[in-house]
Amino acid sequence: MQETIAGSLYDYPKYYDLVFGSDWLAEYEFLTACFAKHLKGKAKRLFEPACGTGRLMYRFARAGYEVAGNDLNAKAVAFCNARLKRYGYPASAVVGDMANFTVKKKYDAAFNTINSFRHLATEEQALGHLKCTAAALRKGGLYVLGLHLTPPRGKPEADEESWAAQRGQLCVLSKMWSTGVDRRERREGVGMCFDVYTPTRTFRLANHCDFRTYSNAQMQELITASRAFEIVETYDFAYEIDEPVVIDSKTEDVIYVLRRK
Ligand SMILES: C[S@@+](CC[C@H](N)C(=O)[O-])C[C@H]1O[C@@H](n2cnc3c(N)ncnc32)[C@H](O)[C@@H]1O
Repeated sequence: MQETIAGSLYDYPKYYDLVFGSDWLAEYEFLTACFAKHLKGKAKRLFEPACGTGRLMYRFARAGYEVAGNDLNAKAVAFCNARLKRYGYPASAVVGDMANFTVKKKYDAAFNTINSFRHLATEEQALGHLKCTAAALRKGGLYVLGLHLTPPRGKPEADEESWAAQRGQLCVLSKMWSTGVDRRERREGVGMCFDVYTPTRTFRLANHCDFRTYSNAQMQELITASRAFEIVETYDFAYEIDEPVVIDSKTEDVIYVLRRK
């Protein structure tokens, strides 16, 4: 790899969406099944905090849902809105902070599936997020929140992941790896890179960021402290709606299905 460009991978929505956008069906089907199983009343209006490129949002729009979302990254939001418009839907993503936002009209359900929540660096932000997401939902509305928990000791089991995706002559290899966990400070360092191959250029985008760590007990405390949600069910990243999981000290990937009180 000849050239390395340092910076946030989220600033490259075309590459992000190629890698992560190809992996949508299991999440999409799981979320749909979750709404059918756990939501009282119909899911018509959906909100995605930290929506990124909206890889799930536009699929839900195409299935007839009203969708909206927010994200801190203006480039991801522009990409998301351009695609929604291309398919004939409103440009309903906004640049915003998931720790502090309001909506004009309440939603039936919200979802946030792949660790974005762990970008929130403090308890105050995490609590703010749960409170404003709850305020964006109708009573009984669902929030489906997926993240990796950090085991109490040792290295996280899933401490390296890689994916590859190709469209036409563009190929992107993506890698994420844990660079260390500080449980006291509740921080996990994560390295991320995209190796991008085009017919004329090959380069690496590289980034390092911190994710906040959570044990199941810390998540439960936070959810209780929000006073806004109850935990309805827990699943893992197998996305099997008929196979809820009981979280123990070894469980790492978890999807909390929360219901707004
Ligand atoms: C792993 S990506 C997930 C994007 C999208 N939810 C998906 O499933 O593809 C994480 C996203 O969180 C966004 N993000 C990080 N902190 C945020 C915050 N405080 N408010 C809103 N978005 C945030 C990033 O800009 C990035 O787009």
